[in-house]
Amino acid sequence: MQKIVALCKRRGFIYPGSEIYGGLGGTWDYGPAGALLKKNLKDLWWKDMVQLREDIVGVDAAIMMNPKAWEASGHVEAFSDPLVECKVCNQRFRADKEVEIKSHEVSHKGDKVEWTKPQQFNLLVKAYLGVLEGKQSEIYLRGEITNGVQVNFKNVLDSTRVKIPFGIAQIGKAFRNEITPGNFTFRSREFEQMEVQFYIKPDEQEGQKWFEYWKKNRMDWYLSLGMKKENLRFRDHEPTERAHYAKAATDIEYNAPFGWSEFMGIHNRGDWDLSRHQKYSGQDMSYLDPVTNEKYIPWDIETSAGVDRSTLFILIDSYTEDNGRIYLKLHPKLAPYKAAVFPLLANKPELIKKAKAIYDDLKKDFMVAWDARGNIGKRYASQDEIGTPFCITVDFQSLEDEMVTVRDRDSVEQERIRIVDLSNYIGDMIKR
Ligand code: GAP
Repeated sequence: MQKIVALCKRRGFIYPGSEIYGGLGGTWDYGPAGALLKKNLKDLWWKDMVQLREDIVGVDAAIMMNPKAWEASGHVEAFSDPLVECKVCNQRFRADKEVEIKSHEVSHKGDKVEWTKPQQFNLLVKAYLGVLEGKQSEIYLRGEITNGVQVNFKNVLDSTRVKIPFGIAQIGKAFRNEITPGNFTFRSREFEQMEVQFYIKPDEQEGQKWFEYWKKNRMDWYLSLGMKKENLRFRDHEPTERAHYAKAATDIEYNAPFGWSEFMGIHNRGDWDLSRHQKYSGQDMSYLDPVTNEKYIPWDIETSAGVDRSTLFILIDSYTEDNGRIYLKLHPKLAPYKAAVFPLLANKPELIKKAKAIYDDLKKDFMVAWDARGNIGKRYASQDEIGTPFCITVDFQSLEDEMVTVRDRDSVEQERIRIVDLSNYIGDMIKR
């Protein structure tokens, strides 16, 4: 983990939040490379879930919602973790995190640790809305992005041509007052989620069918991004650990340096959300089947992935050390920059001019990096650590034969490619 954290800082993937002020626990800022990686991940997810499917539409709901929505969804009452406090040094921990509690007991100095009884601690982050001091209304920042979709179920039905079974997709920020944020971005207080709420007929068999469908579909998607199969597994939730809304739940976990850890969940939420919103809002949340005339409140099979955890595990999975060389073996479609363009020598105007023309041309189609600093070895090393799949070098020969050297990040093999073919070459690699 230390190597990953150091690389993320060194190469502009992830920095500690508000670092110059000593940081703010559980917040992280994405730098130039990290923002691109995260954007590529979200774009690929949106393409797979919305663009390529006829049965899913996307929304982008407000983060701030009427607080009644959070009462209806059960979060005000039940969105909590058990908290214990060391009575001696007042440090707080999640009561169900045995490793962290043991570690505190070992490192604790002075009087013997004495724990308080576990008490439930609500994770919703409060905010205050309004301009008049003392008259502001208390609201919650969303603890999961789901509610913005559920409250718009009827709006989507009425404004589009969707028919059950269908899904509503959304990507956005969520906030949780985590008791102990940690393991780099893994447990943060501000993070992003990518979710589909997939509405189906309220039926056990139908629920089981779609639950299994989405498990396989999501696992296959992560594999298609190049993640190693042996580092991924499913873990079914025991009934006692399921969230308050779930009839069934399975996580996809990653074999992280700190142990197998969840980065996405598939949940059968039944009719929990729509029924509760119907009850609390007084609005009809049912669906009328246009063929059979049946009227019912649909069930919701949810897939909920963490953008930050997926990004972290993709970084860890791609981190490669090979004879002292460090590189990120990112799938080209995820890589922040698809190619880097270098003039062989930084003090030869004719090489710079040619290389700049190639760079200017390629950047119309792809994110491309430019580097004319230091020697070529240093440039390769820095692009390797960012995960740039192709480094294109313009040399004196290029001025004569209109060809360039393209070096492959993983094999370090070099081949000469015609300048006019570069765009297609990179485009083909990204599509694979
Ligand atoms: N709508 C369902 C839901 O929110 P969840 O299992 O609580 O389910 C889904 O969260 C995903 O959101 C997790 O698998 C994880 O990737 C991400 N996530 C949850 N809490 C997080 C945190 N504190 N920091 C980073 N990511 C988090």
